Amino acid sequence: MQGAGIRAFGAAVEILDLPESYELQETDVLIEVRAAGVGNWDEIARNGGWDLGIVPPMALGVEASGIVIAVGSSVHRFAEADEVLTHPVPLRHQGAWAERLVAVEATVARKPPDMSWPTAALFPVPALTAGQVIHHWLQVQRGEPLLIHGAGGVTGGLLVAVAASAGARVVAVASSQDRERIVAYGAQVVLDYHDTSWPAQARAIFGPHGAPAAVNAVRGGAARLIAMVADGGRLVTTTSDGPPPERGVTVTNFYVSSDGELLEKLAIDFVARHLTISLARHDRLPDAAAALAAVVSGHAGGGVVLVPNS
Ligand SMILES: NC(=O)c1ccc[n+]([C@@H]2O[C@H](COP(=O)([O-])OP(=O)(O)OC[C@H]3O[C@@H](n4cnc5c(N)ncnc54)[C@H](OP(=O)(O)O)[C@@H]3O)[C@@H](O)[C@H]2O)c1
Repeated sequence: MQGAGIRAFGAAVEILDLPESYELQETDVLIEVRAAGVGNWDEIARNGGWDLGIVPPMALGVEASGIVIAVGSSVHRFAEADEVLTHPVPLRHQGAWAERLVAVEATVARKPPDMSWPTAALFPVPALTAGQVIHHWLQVQRGEPLLIHGAGGVTGGLLVAVAASAGARVVAVASSQDRERIVAYGAQVVLDYHDTSWPAQARAIFGPHGAPAAVNAVRGGAARLIAMVADGGRLVTTTSDGPPPERGVTVTNFYVSSDGELLEKLAIDFVARHLTISLARHDRLPDAAAALAAVVSGHAGGGVVLVPNS
């Protein structure tokens, strides 16, 4: 089986000939991958900073869409030919940048018919992040103001979409070219991060005390964002850069968890609102290193997917 990944932690991404043989366990779902997402988190996994449950040589990739081609004996939610998406960590066999992927049933979601393969491949990690941050960690209430920093990214955009669905009044910080998409996701205000007066503009909106809650999705952005949070408020960051708590502000360094049922609910809501994720590029497996480099730059301009069987 062809995959794209690493021979050792820290090694360059290359095309790999991986063992096909795998004995399907009771709760396993075998998926023919139609598209796999590429995220900055894959760079962390490449360097060994995220334990995915397997060791090199291994395909990278932690999110995918595809078609079920076999199921284990106790799988009851899925059958052959079902169209699915998944964030399948801990990995059972190989990563998602491969022709086939094994995922535990509990991590798999049904793909809504109107969701494209690339969108479904880009959706799992950002959507689960958004669902878990907004509902579990921040417990955002209807009508509550929320500041989202880095809203132009794939994860940032999903944070806006899920927060808006929960009834939050979202103030987003992003590049002005992303304004239209972020407003469609449900933000009430979009501030341009290239304009150095955005913190003052945010303060004018939230009032002198600051925002009751904020989410950071920009590498190294949390230390500055905490100044925008009101005393006793909540700050969640997705980029492992949470500063020490101050003024009673709760600071959370967030890490995503697999959850097929939550993923399915989020996908249904996203499609019902006619939302999509903009695709910056799609590559074949031999071009995985270039795809990852584009994402790691932090300015890919949209989602990046690998298409194994094209
Ligand atoms: N811990 C977890 O479980 C978890 C889960 C999901 C995501 N993440 C992390 O969250 C981060 C964001 O993910 P993503 O999927 O949204 O990445 P992405 O799609 O690559 O987007 C990055 C975005 O950040 C914007 N940006 C860069 N500098 C900025 C600044 N100073 N102010 C405001 N926006 C800025 C970029 O805008 P321009 O291109 O316009 O500059 C771009 O839209 C990544 O580091 C990812 O690894 C972590």
